[in-house]
Amino acid sequence: MMTTGMLRDDALKGKTIIVTGGGTGLGKSISRYLLQLGANVTICSRRQHVIDETAKELMAEMGRSSVLGGDGAGSGGLGEVLAVPCDVRNPLEIENVMAKTIEKFGRIDGLLNNSAGNFISPTERLSYKAFDTIVDIVLRGTYYFTLAVGKYWIENKIPGTVLNISTTYATTGSGYVVPSAVAKGGALIMTKSLAAEWGKYGIRLNAIAPGPFPTKGAWDRLFPEPLASMMDPTSRIPLHRVGEHGELANLAAFLLSDYSGYITGESITIDGGEVLMAGEFSHLENVTEEQWDMIGKTIKQANKESKKE
Ligand code: HXC
Ligand code: NAP
Repeated sequence: MMTTGMLRDDALKGKTIIVTGGGTGLGKSISRYLLQLGANVTICSRRQHVIDETAKELMAEMGRSSVLGGDGAGSGGLGEVLAVPCDVRNPLEIENVMAKTIEKFGRIDGLLNNSAGNFISPTERLSYKAFDTIVDIVLRGTYYFTLAVGKYWIENKIPGTVLNISTTYATTGSGYVVPSAVAKGGALIMTKSLAAEWGKYGIRLNAIAPGPFPTKGAWDRLFPEPLASMMDPTSRIPLHRVGEHGELANLAAFLLSDYSGYITGESITIDGGEVLMAGEFSHLENVTEEQWDMIGKTIKQANKESKKE
């Protein structure tokens, strides 16, 4: 498996990208790679201490002091990181993230809608508020941020790019995560609809549908005990493994870069083939060679008999 960066070192030089939920998990891993490719990155989420720590860590990894609130020192070809707190359900906080980003970096070129809320539960156990909480973070948060940044791009004639982190069940649906599936499905349709409408402004919108990529945020809420002992997420994956963050970061950076300039309205699945297991016979991996010999003979015998009829 290949997890090293695939794009040329300056692939995002001069670009500024906002990453929601950039303080943890996949958002943090993608932010790290965007910085390495020369982008300036604003990370935002509700917990200020988390994004501040991540900003410090990412800048330290690149051998520089962190830029918390916007006054650090950048150098060379590597990008800088800015941390601004934001609840994506609040348009005023979104506008603040944009204002701080423009003040620090001069412009915004990309938006990675990565923030999410989710937990596993039978749907009939959910309160109205529980359902609202997930849909508001995932769907409302995504369209609020996209609308705000889109208006700015159209007004300033900037050919921006949106990348939404979706899920494979945005198209298949899934039990036990119904608010998340509803919200991710809505966000995916927004991706395609706006790609059609805003293409004339040079604005592109795409999505990534990841299979399982271990993060604390997702694992704590989707695979707590006893579920963790009951289900092995790799057992239904043709490639028999979970995803590596570097694999996702490569795809995300490509879709945020100009190298994907002719791709819009697309959702790219990166799941080791997991969704294909919906195919009726795809799970027959455990049938032995001997059993296949026997099955073959039985079918051929049935064929012979049907020719005699
Ligand atoms: C039933 C629950 C619940 C649970 C919370 N609630 N957890 N109901 N089962 N397990 C209910 C609460 O009782 C409350 O309703 C309502 O939801 C809101 O809960 P709060 O704790 O007040 O909300 P808040 O503090 O805003 O926290 C949001 C959160 C939390 C979504 C509940 O988990 C969170 O902060 N998550 C952020 C990170 C995250 O979820 N990461 C995972 C993304 S993984 P009442 O009516 O009681 O007031 C992902 C990947 C999917 O999306 C694909 C993987 C393969
Ligand atoms: P994670 O670490 O829990 O990331 C979720 C992020 O969203 C956190 O940084 C959280 O930060 C932020 N967030 C939550 N509510 C927010 C709000 N109201 N406003 C702003 N930010 C908010 O989990 P992850 O696994 O990396 O998930 C990242 C993305 O990948 C999500 O869109 C998820 O649906 C998607 N995904 C993950 C997997 C997987 O296997 N990991 C699979 C498919 C899709 P705060 O708590 O500080 O706000």
